[in-house]
Amino acid sequence: MTDSTSTKTAVITGATGGIGAAVARALSQAGWNLVLTARSAEKLQALASELGSRVAVVPADLTDPAVPAALLSAALTNFGRCDLCFNNAGFLETGPIESIDIERVCAMVRINVEAAFRVAYTFLRHFVRENAGHLINTSSILGTKVRPTAGAYAGTKYAIEALSEALRMELAKTDVQVSSIQPGLVMTGLHDHWQVHPSELMGIAEPLQPADIARMVLFLLDQPPHVRIPKLMILPKGHEI
Ligand SMILES: NC(=O)c1ccc[n+]([C@@H]2O[C@H](COP(=O)([O-])OP(=O)(O)OC[C@H]3O[C@@H](n4cnc5c(N)ncnc54)[C@H](OP(=O)(O)O)[C@@H]3O)[C@@H](O)[C@H]2O)c1
Repeated sequence: MTDSTSTKTAVITGATGGIGAAVARALSQAGWNLVLTARSAEKLQALASELGSRVAVVPADLTDPAVPAALLSAALTNFGRCDLCFNNAGFLETGPIESIDIERVCAMVRINVEAAFRVAYTFLRHFVRENAGHLINTSSILGTKVRPTAGAYAGTKYAIEALSEALRMELAKTDVQVSSIQPGLVMTGLHDHWQVHPSELMGIAEPLQPADIARMVLFLLDQPPHVRIPKLMILPKGHEI
């Protein structure tokens, strides 16, 4: 697949999920080339068919250490450039001390932290070489606060916050940008396995929609060159956290 190298290119991890797919749709609408990745080849293919021709898909488990470099390579091979990495794949495991699934917690650390760190450094090395590019990490409101039973998840997002902030400082004098988005409750598949949905537990009548996060991404990308937005917190009305 080839395209004009004058068109900006984004790599989106977790592209089949609620937030990732919404960002893919918004960037596609804005004319970007896209490299989409997640494990489900079927869902990636469906999204790519919906979005049209300027899309490459890489079905893969992002915890495989070889995948971040393969994603960058897919952007450069298919489209000749990479301007944005939306570092977004992840999942949520919560529970009380007595019953939280420790193996799932460790799997969460591997995707939310280890894989996200590999993605961050892999793409930033390329962006530094080019002195251009934007890394946007999906953090969480739980990257800034904790609540009982969600300490391990919050820990993964605090790790993202720490990395984002240090990377931003390292790159402050360059044209490479690092931002983190800190959403409150968004209606996606993240809570599908919960017996009672958190919107009910927390009394949030209207949780955020994935399109609300996509709008934040477009906002981050729409700033003049002298502006930096390191963090963007977005909450639904009624989120008391
Ligand atoms: N929803 C919320 O309320 C909320 C709030 C704050 C932050 N966030 C963060 O937003 C990000 C996106 O979540 P979401 O809400 O859009 O949830 P989602 O709909 O469940 O999407 C999660 C995405 O991550 C991918 N993924 C999970 N494990 C993976 C792995 N090992 N390898 C590759 N891809 C993997 C999934 O695809 P496959 O299963 O096909 O691999 C899917 O595309 C996460 O980092 C989450 O922590 C969500």
